[in-house]
Amino acid sequence: MQADVTPEVTVVDHPLVQHKLTIMREKDTALPEFRRLLREISLLLAYEVTRHLELKQIEIETPVAKTAAPLLARPEPCLITILRAGNGLLDGMLDLIPSASVGHVGLYRDPKTLEAVEYYYKVPKDMGQRLTIVVDPMLATGHTAVAALDMLKKDGAADISFVCLVAAPEGIEELRKAHPDVPVFTAAVDEKLNDKGYIVPGLGDAGDRIFGTK
Ligand code: URA
Repeated sequence: MQADVTPEVTVVDHPLVQHKLTIMREKDTALPEFRRLLREISLLLAYEVTRHLELKQIEIETPVAKTAAPLLARPEPCLITILRAGNGLLDGMLDLIPSASVGHVGLYRDPKTLEAVEYYYKVPKDMGQRLTIVVDPMLATGHTAVAALDMLKKDGAADISFVCLVAAPEGIEELRKAHPDVPVFTAAVDEKLNDKGYIVPGLGDAGDRIFGTK
């Protein structure tokens, strides 16, 4: 039952997120600082994407009194990283949700067609019971994200959110068309894609900047 779900794009416009992202975009930002900022932003994005998790009341006893207090109603969310750049968002998210299980989806973009090609897939078995948070820092063409969501839904994921750092309008459009039930959380929606499929102004190749491979 996806048809009646309103598609959503949440731009996390918290001043600290915006400030950190600007420093990350700078081409001369060094690797350790880039990584540190990514970890910090990821935690803040995790905070936003989990904002509406359902709570249940339980009875507890503090050192002072018995009381009813809220606890997550469902098992903790699981995180699905789209390799390899998605891994850059994991540490910060795990700082906030340390008991999250983590799945890995290996997809690369064919440099000619820009289509997603699968090379690895291992995900938690009980995704259907959890909020499934799919992470990839750059939502560019949307092909990779759509392919990952197709695979996860086939495997039972039902309540999915997609988290990125920077999105292109083209990627958002593609994702909304294919998966209108999946809300998108991003720190920025940029201007466009260039002819190589890079986001403009973007921050360059996120994988290379996270792992220092350039
Ligand atoms: N992937 C990246 O790492 N950067 C972009 O700008 C687009 C896709």
